[in-house]
Amino acid sequence: MSKKPPAPPQTEKRVFKPSREFSKKARIGSLQQYRELWEESVKRPDKFWAREASELVWDTKWSKVLEWKEPFAKWFVGGKLNVSENCLDRHLGTPRQNKAAILWEGEPGEKRALTYQQLHREVCRFANVLKSHKVKKGDRIIIYMPMVPEAAIAMLACARIGAIHSVVFGGFSAEAIRDRINDSQAVLVITCDGGYRRGSVVGLKRNVDDALKEGVETIRNVIVYKRTGQDVTMQAGRDLWWHEEVEKVDAHCPSTPLDSEHPLFILYTSGSTGKPKGILHTTGGYMTGAYTTCKYVFDLRDEDVYWCTADIGWVTGHSYLVYGPLACGATSLMYEGAPNWPENDRFWKIIEDYRVTIFYTAPTAIRAFIRWGDECIKKHNLSSLRLLGTVGEPISPDAWNWYHSVIGGGNCPIVDTWWQTETGSIMITTLPGAASTKPGSAGLPFFGVDAAIVDDDGNEVPANTGGKLVIRQPWPSMLRNIHGDKARYKKTYWGDIKGMYLAGDGARRDKDGYFWIEGRIDDVLNVAGHRIGTNEVESALGSHPAVAEAAVVGRPDELKGQAVVCFVTLKMDITATPQLREDLRKHVRHVIGPVATPDDIRFADALPKTRSGKIIRRLLKQIASGGVVSGDTSTLEDLSILAKLGSSED
Ligand code: PRX
Repeated sequence: MSKKPPAPPQTEKRVFKPSREFSKKARIGSLQQYRELWEESVKRPDKFWAREASELVWDTKWSKVLEWKEPFAKWFVGGKLNVSENCLDRHLGTPRQNKAAILWEGEPGEKRALTYQQLHREVCRFANVLKSHKVKKGDRIIIYMPMVPEAAIAMLACARIGAIHSVVFGGFSAEAIRDRINDSQAVLVITCDGGYRRGSVVGLKRNVDDALKEGVETIRNVIVYKRTGQDVTMQAGRDLWWHEEVEKVDAHCPSTPLDSEHPLFILYTSGSTGKPKGILHTTGGYMTGAYTTCKYVFDLRDEDVYWCTADIGWVTGHSYLVYGPLACGATSLMYEGAPNWPENDRFWKIIEDYRVTIFYTAPTAIRAFIRWGDECIKKHNLSSLRLLGTVGEPISPDAWNWYHSVIGGGNCPIVDTWWQTETGSIMITTLPGAASTKPGSAGLPFFGVDAAIVDDDGNEVPANTGGKLVIRQPWPSMLRNIHGDKARYKKTYWGDIKGMYLAGDGARRDKDGYFWIEGRIDDVLNVAGHRIGTNEVESALGSHPAVAEAAVVGRPDELKGQAVVCFVTLKMDITATPQLREDLRKHVRHVIGPVATPDDIRFADALPKTRSGKIIRRLLKQIASGGVVSGDTSTLEDLSILAKLGSSED
């Protein structure tokens, strides 16, 4: 690999051992135990995964654990099961029946608790609503909702009848919803009138209406859950109120036994080229992966109050807010709103109020907490916490240290979990009772994960040498396809080096086998833990009538990890003005959504290109970061362009 991203600064060199007390109670209590089980899991994956999958409820047992015809995997071949049965029904008739499955707090402060029995009932009723509107097994359903229990109910109801959900994050625009509807050919949308975010109301139904205005032919119905009570337009014959529909059905809805490889969900994520990819996950393997990782990584106990702060619009919300914890019979806490509403201490207040024991969040949030200062934290008693987690981007050792001492009081192990929408569940981490943690490193591979760092030819590189992060054998919760595009699936993930899944991250592995993730090696940005393809922002800008050409790169950002920097050339006779800059920013928000809002827009007469016309991103990245441009620039069409780009003046 020619260009390696720089390693994160490492001011913290200490290694943190799990406490004897934690290890004694943990399912995996020593490094040796982890190593033995890991050896088995990669040498005899069929044996290891069969044992784990047997802890789930199967209507029909599989005949073969894995059928691997690279790059297509089938797990638990011939097996039949239902994910909602595994998350709900199997806890009924046990002491978990009346335990809280979901504890919910709305941003304005309302509180709800749904026991396993109550959640089961709501899911059955809503599944009957879907059936009453002719939703069948295999139909695609779009869920565009805020963080309310009904979002989880909608997901589980789809799973119950074999409908395939595609959750669209509330921060995406009408156009993004329309693209996802059309790509998935969805028949129904489930949404809310609105949701609360930082004290204001977000108009979700309005966005759905805009998405359906034109160019969508497959949607028959929109089911609207009333959250805020704001005015919405209900189109007769198409739009239905959730609360009215559930009154019309009963709560009896047996779960449908589904083939292990039946699709469970499609979740769109950004890649380095083209439109967002519909990552397809299936039933048996995904459920096994989410369940097994939740059990070992969070070492979940019945007494735990487990809080994953991710939105259900992202894969973390799927695997570690809904499916994983519920399959484990845990109590999963869900909070609707912003961490700084009404004050900066909202999260700490929630931890104190609910006596949260496990807290799983993202480095971008941790950096914001650090900035807000420790005073608002000290007001609260966080002593209930026993385990902390992080996900989504590398955490700097200094932020790790702060998290460990200020939030964890120095007593909580931290699991830094590396994984992706595509992997479905956690792939690299340190099991909290088994292995020491090195701040800034994600840790060791999870069971069944044969991760390695390789060069461009697929040869493993020596310790502490940067390279490509790959996975060398299939795992149960791996993506099965990009919806409707096998060729892209093959090329993107398995087309680089034979027999290896390419994660798209650069990393190194130290002499103890710990992985240090260095960030994406493709044109994907990680902005506040959200994946954004530079090409998506470029085509959004390109669709504005004033824009001739645009190139988008990331620059390091203290809070968000990366910021979105756009270089734009305008059409002849268009003048660069601050107003136009603002219009372009709005335009990107309109096309993709607030998640992709550009941080900087810089106008230029032309973009630096090679003789063959390829934009030289390396130079743009350096300019965007304020670095000195270095290296061979002799292939530039016009060197004078560079100087002009260096200025953000109009
Ligand atoms: O670059 C890696 C980064 O997030 C990417 C995956 O993004 P997404 O599919 O949106 O899923 C995020 C939540 C699972 C990866 O390719 N990433 C994720 N976790 C970590 C990370 N980078 C460093 N450390 C992590 N723990």
